[in-house]
Amino acid sequence: MSHAEDLQGTRRDFIYYATAGAGAVVTGAAVWPLVNQMNPSADVLALSSIRVDVSAVEPGTQLTVLWQGKPVFIRSRTAEEIAAARAVSLDDLVDSSAENANLPDGSDATDENRALSEDGTWLVQMGVCTHLGCVPLGEQGDFGGWFCPCHGSHYDTAGRIRKGPAPRNLPIPVAAFVDETTIKLG
Ligand code: FES
Repeated sequence: MSHAEDLQGTRRDFIYYATAGAGAVVTGAAVWPLVNQMNPSADVLALSSIRVDVSAVEPGTQLTVLWQGKPVFIRSRTAEEIAAARAVSLDDLVDSSAENANLPDGSDATDENRALSEDGTWLVQMGVCTHLGCVPLGEQGDFGGWFCPCHGSHYDTAGRIRKGPAPRNLPIPVAAFVDETTIKLG
């Protein structure tokens, strides 16, 4: 199966919001393009930060936004997902680093160090598998988090790699709430 065919299976899962100017996010098409059609144009790359309205993201759902040419998963986690992530011992992790651009290097991969909000509800991470860059599928895999169908990497509900060839947790970009319902990326 070709790489492109591998990725076909991911398309139904995504709603993406296309960026359309500095600071603006508008609703876009409901089909995620293949990765080879996602090469960012210069104007997209130039957008160093975007603001995303998350007011419509219900618990247990995920919004995928395109930022600097790459998908970013913004998930509102359920209490069960948070509890599952927080019950994991650090000894069970493949990658013990938080991989969180908002924290100092060397921060460990506790769920508290991965979540954006203190209550653990919001998890923001790059939707790019750390193996070879496919887009993982949400609410799938052995750990109820994300599953990358390309070569079988399983991520948990905190986006930490637990099984399969991917070497690192899904990276967390620079992100912050700028008001109750708006997340700024970058
Ligand atoms: S690219 Fe995700 S498992 Fe290989």
